[in-house]
Amino acid sequence: MARHTAQGVPARRGGNPRQAVAELWPGQSVALLKALHILSQDGAINADSRRKLKQVLHLAQLIKPALDKAFADKEQPVLADLGAGKSYLGFVLYDLFFAKQGRGQVYGVEARSELVATCRRIAAESGFERMHFMATAIADAVLPDAHADVVTALHACDTATDEAILFALKNEAKFIALVPCCQAELAAGLEGASGPLRQLWRHPIQRREFGAHLTNVMRGLFLEAHGYKVRVTELTGLEHSLKNEFIFAERHQLSNPQARAEFLRLAEQFGAAPALLKSAA
Ligand SMILES: C[S@@+](CC[C@H](N)C(=O)[O-])C[C@H]1O[C@@H](n2cnc3c(N)ncnc32)[C@H](O)[C@@H]1O
Repeated sequence: MARHTAQGVPARRGGNPRQAVAELWPGQSVALLKALHILSQDGAINADSRRKLKQVLHLAQLIKPALDKAFADKEQPVLADLGAGKSYLGFVLYDLFFAKQGRGQVYGVEARSELVATCRRIAAESGFERMHFMATAIADAVLPDAHADVVTALHACDTATDEAILFALKNEAKFIALVPCCQAELAAGLEGASGPLRQLWRHPIQRREFGAHLTNVMRGLFLEAHGYKVRVTELTGLEHSLKNEFIFAERHQLSNPQARAEFLRLAEQFGAAPALLKSAA
């Protein structure tokens, strides 16, 4: 007979019983993780799923203070998860926070309608009545009250992270949590750029890395320019994902002209900037 961990997940025979689920939160739904195919029906987990679960749970830990604050401030706090994919993050946040509180709404925005159909089914089967999904581009997504308290975007591809930033501004989000994905836009822009620093992006691989770095620097400045306090840290160890930069923003003032000037100075200096953000700077 299979042994079970405190969370009811069977361990593989001879293995460490907590190995598969060491990071699970108390009371976290194992049935949900099975419905999401993160855990197999007999409770096993493969290396990819373990990595994803670890990222999602770590992100949940990092944004817990923001969610606690949103629940303290609002009767019905709204979280929007953008570029949601299979909505692992949205489901886990609903399970850990929104289901426990019995209030608040979660919206998942995802361009691929087949993923949204699966998410809707899992939400219905899980009884997650306050979880909703929109099959649309982030730029076109409209929330019922045009308001979100917390916006998340985990590995939203390329410029979709910029769409997420503009969505957060439009919906007056107090908190924004971003883990950007690969970024190609600025590398292309840097290719023809000259100037005293051009050796920094001479080779394609360096151009890609430098372009992605510059993009995230400019994202942080853009958010500061729009009145957010920004913290940039690591999400999890690099063994879990190469796309590992965590940008957390909390609104604390209306705007910051100095940060806006820095954003524009960098755009000028490098001859490249995230187009969506530059047009809204
Ligand atoms: C790398 S996946 C990440 C999914 C999920 N957030 C996660 O971490 O597991 C990126 C997802 O964003 C979606 N996506 C990319 N660009 C988008 C856009 N502009 N609007 C909405 N969804 C987008 C893709 O279809 C894909 O499902």
